[in-house]
Amino acid sequence: MVSAVPRCWTTVAMPDQAGRVALVTGANSGLGLESARALLARGATVVLACRTLAKAQAAREALLAGGNGGAGQAAANGSGGLDLLLLDLADLDSVVLAAEQVAERHGRLDLLLNNAGVMAPPLQRTRQGFELQFGTNHLGHFALTVLLLPLLQGRSDARVVQVTSGAQYFGRLDFEDLQGERRYDRWAAYGQSKLANVVFAQELQRRCPGLLSAAAHPGLARTNLQPASVAASGARLEGVVYRLLDPLFQSAAMGALPQLFAATDSAAEPGGHYGPSQFGGLRGWPRPVRMAPAALDPAVGARLWQVSEQLCREASPAFAAALDRLGGVLPST
Ligand SMILES: NC(=O)c1ccc[n+]([C@@H]2O[C@H](COP(=O)([O-])OP(=O)(O)OC[C@H]3O[C@@H](n4cnc5c(N)ncnc54)[C@H](OP(=O)(O)O)[C@@H]3O)[C@@H](O)[C@H]2O)c1
Repeated sequence: MVSAVPRCWTTVAMPDQAGRVALVTGANSGLGLESARALLARGATVVLACRTLAKAQAAREALLAGGNGGAGQAAANGSGGLDLLLLDLADLDSVVLAAEQVAERHGRLDLLLNNAGVMAPPLQRTRQGFELQFGTNHLGHFALTVLLLPLLQGRSDARVVQVTSGAQYFGRLDFEDLQGERRYDRWAAYGQSKLANVVFAQELQRRCPGLLSAAAHPGLARTNLQPASVAASGARLEGVVYRLLDPLFQSAAMGALPQLFAATDSAAEPGGHYGPSQFGGLRGWPRPVRMAPAALDPAVGARLWQVSEQLCREASPAFAAALDRLGGVLPST
């Protein structure tokens, strides 16, 4: 455990981000919006990556509206900026286009915050036919990360942060049936995708020692994740449980602290994993927390990387071509 982590870390302690370019996936809602707000307030140029431009524009308006902990002021002062990026993680061709646009517009990247996610929907497939949660939460972010690596490599203090969940602890990577073709359980699939996030974070760190790769989870945070899950699945009983548990939920701003700590603080460590400190990790200020054991197994990490690359290559010729164009920049597999 890292002793240098303050007991009550908040965005007040966030280092200056002026001059840094940060991309936040799912930046229009919940933890992503709060992360974008905090990064902008500290002077970063924030790329709001959202699955429609209308949502990205609404997020920009919300962030610039003022009274946002200094975010609007920072942008008004010219010390930070906002860029809107269309990104559908459930479509690898969209991921390829998004990565190309980041390269064209910015030519560099200091922080990639892989935050977007879907939770426990009924069985659905991405554009390329992957199970929606594995495809969005893991494969989309895997593809985005490897395509953006050249923009991150060589930057001072470049960071990639995966937003995982306590669901990683009950997750299992079923390499024989990653896409839920034999059997689909929507919660097991969520756990699998969130375990994949933390396994990928560790493997990325092994392959790219020059950058800081970390993972973070928010505990229970009041966002659109649970309402969207109940609406998609029709699981009304789960809606009742969320209402009963509401006093345990913390705000989205509080839930975003672990990922912001991993993304910015000098005490965050390569390969670190951060989550809330109280109520068994459900709420509280960020601190280092244990990872699911599979994340610490290099064989599991290597296998997930190899399978993910192969799946993305086979499903999207655009991804395969983009990866080939990067040539030696990609860490060897
Ligand atoms: N809230 C919690 O208690 C909790 C607990 C554990 C882990 N997490 C994790 O925290 C992360 C953020 O979730 P949140 O709680 O902030 O939920 P949220 O408010 O629902 O935000 C999720 C974001 O992901 C975006 N997204 C979903 N599918 C996408 C796709 N195909 N392409 C691009 N973006 C997509 C959503 O876009 P739309 O608005 O277009 O849907 C939204 O911006 C997720 O990874 C989640 O697993 C949250």
